[in-house]
Amino acid sequence: MSATIAIGPFSQIITMSGLPLKGAISDEHLVVIENGAMILENGRVEAIGEAKAIRNTAKVKGMPWHELEKQLVAIPGLVDAHTHICFAGSRARDYAARSAGKTYLEIAQAGGGIWDTVLKTRAASEENLTTSMLDRLSRLLQSGVTTAEVKSGYALTVEGELKMLRAIRKAGQDSPMDVIPTCLPVHIVPRDFTGTAMEYVEYLLAEFFPIVQQEQLARRADIFVEEEAFGMAEAKHYLSTLNQRGFDLTVHADQFSTGGSQVAIECGVRSADHLEASGTEQIEALAASGVIPVALPGASLGLGCDFTPGRRLLDRGASLAIASDWNPGSAPMGDLLTCASIFGMWEKLSLAEVLAGVTFRAAAALGLQDRGRLLEGQIADITAFETSDYREIFYQQGQLRPTMVWKRGQLISNSTS
Ligand code: NIG
Ligand code: FE
Repeated sequence: MSATIAIGPFSQIITMSGLPLKGAISDEHLVVIENGAMILENGRVEAIGEAKAIRNTAKVKGMPWHELEKQLVAIPGLVDAHTHICFAGSRARDYAARSAGKTYLEIAQAGGGIWDTVLKTRAASEENLTTSMLDRLSRLLQSGVTTAEVKSGYALTVEGELKMLRAIRKAGQDSPMDVIPTCLPVHIVPRDFTGTAMEYVEYLLAEFFPIVQQEQLARRADIFVEEEAFGMAEAKHYLSTLNQRGFDLTVHADQFSTGGSQVAIECGVRSADHLEASGTEQIEALAASGVIPVALPGASLGLGCDFTPGRRLLDRGASLAIASDWNPGSAPMGDLLTCASIFGMWEKLSLAEVLAGVTFRAAAALGLQDRGRLLEGQIADITAFETSDYREIFYQQGQLRPTMVWKRGQLISNSTS
């Protein structure tokens, strides 16, 4: 396939250009190119504009033209900035218990929860983890995701967490999508660790992270700050040490109780994810900080809990990314479009805010500036839906699937033929 191609006409191209990283956005601010086209060169967007002009340029320069026969709306390839799709086993039993009224923490205390997945993931081979992850990545691709973050965190031993990170790397190599690995060895204190939570953190800092850096397995690290997981003292020590070692940082914060967002802000991390329990004080502090809040509506839907206060965060001036949190426990659905549509309606977000949350704001939560908008120079990750009105994408709440997806300028999914 040629490294250069011109594609069009799209009924609409939603560029996401000119929109701010932080604060509320109304739909009138969306740049919509009606009857648009793009030139893709070496994996990047080389030009974008009205189809007539782009077609002329392509003709003059002798570039191949890909004529689109259908009504298609193009948006930037979606970025899922928070997933746990490297795991073995199912927690349908937990789901049934929660549906019947047991809480997430009660189930964990009774031997279900994260620990159950840890035992199954420890027993799985690296190959099996890679294979099941590739299936989940292709499901994410079906909802238009072209970049997915994937966390470790279900082995909780040095060897087991390395196995997870190696499986994540392999899945990233074998998938057309970009996979961004994150270390989460501090998910809970493993039941078979004989020592305190702080000793567990020390053990990982000494034994695990040097190998991660040597093998270049990940540049990001995460921690679950919660009453049943890790406290503020452990989190501060973990985050400040890894900050010094050059890791990019994120925190599972304020899911059931507050505290995590405060540590996130104090340690200057890139993103604070969850925030379902955040109140006025936490919202104000997040808005005043450089931390990007990430809402995980899949966890609210999977647990039957409150949603992250997205509207209030945006109105106070914070940024807001939206991710699936796909995992076997709290967020089994794993469909970013469905989660984002429902969250937007519940929290009264404009469609521009929902789109921003799954494109350039999600990219920023991963520290990526090179994707999430359709502009000259950006990576040519494009998701196109068969419609002439971008509002249909969320109106159909996940049921309108992308018809065509381009990753770095290559057509990787096409259901038109
Ligand atoms: O993001 N909150 C902690 N971690 C995951 C859930 C993991 C699990 O239940 O397996 C989350 O919701
Ligand atoms: Fe999570």
